Amino acid sequence: MVILQIRNIQYRYHDGTYALRGVSLDIRRGEFLAILGPNGSGKTTLLKHLNGLLKPLAGELVLEQKSFTQYASREIFQRVGIVFQDPNDQLFAPSVWEDVAFGPMNLGLSRDEIAHRVDEALSLVDMMLYANKTIDALSYGQRKRICIAGVLAMRPEILVLDEPTCGLDPAGVTSLMTLLKELNGKHGITIIMATNMVDLVPVYMDRLAIMYQGNLLRIGTPEEIFSNMTEIKYACLELPQIALLMKILRDEENLQMNTLPLTIGEARKFLVHKINCNNLTIVT
Ligand SMILES: Nc1ncnc2c1ncn2[C@@H]1O[C@H](COP(=O)(O)OP(=O)(O)O)[C@@H](O)[C@H]1O
Ligand SMILES: [Mg+2]
Repeated sequence: MVILQIRNIQYRYHDGTYALRGVSLDIRRGEFLAILGPNGSGKTTLLKHLNGLLKPLAGELVLEQKSFTQYASREIFQRVGIVFQDPNDQLFAPSVWEDVAFGPMNLGLSRDEIAHRVDEALSLVDMMLYANKTIDALSYGQRKRICIAGVLAMRPEILVLDEPTCGLDPAGVTSLMTLLKELNGKHGITIIMATNMVDLVPVYMDRLAIMYQGNLLRIGTPEEIFSNMTEIKYACLELPQIALLMKILRDEENLQMNTLPLTIGEARKFLVHKINCNNLTIVT
């Protein structure tokens, strides 16, 4: 069930900054995991360890029971794909097709297989019509999709994304999250995503981990994590907007609820139920 184990890893940058102070985390096969935490808490540093871009100062990473040190780095690159925060750091080939083909070419695949992989990846991210465009001609959101396609062309088991919704407009955020949910649900890809958008978490993710000052503060389901206000505040995070409204209704308007609804769907169900119950009371 556990696909990737992070065992007590520490990391220090050249200038002496301790970015990770002993982080342990089990990533489950097929889950959609969010990594939350304020700026500078170590999210990016942690993600860069997951495909071997950074090597821990202490501790180890274990992919399917085997330590990273026992794999060729190429194999880890293929199995764990990482999408950087800024697409301009990732894209470098002149055209979309060449960029997406770069990974499969490095795997030494045949021309036909490369072409097949590029078509497949572009179709997954709904960018088939852009295959021959130059990268310059793409919008920011489209560049993000091409970065994801480049990683998908390697057919990874794990997809790691660093704040992928950053810089997108609201429609772009929804469309990207729908794509990720589909890759996770339909194609079974395990997804780990750093984000600061708490509102997305209860809608799309199974679990979330909170980073704070180079430590992993806690991991749990959205229900578990968002029920602990003290910890949320301590980690400089906030409740999702809907949960905040429901909390105000509970604490200041005395609307009784057993658990705090976290999404529009849950809040709607709860409120409709309350309204219906109240109507019944009035009628009888
Ligand atoms: N290249 C670097 N050199 C030195 N310190 C760095 C470097 N990159 C990040 N850091 C420091 O490491 C800590 C964690 O940073 P980072 O992993 O980028 O956090 P986050 O992604 O949560 O914002 C911060 O204190 C940051 O300043
Ligand atoms: Mg970061």
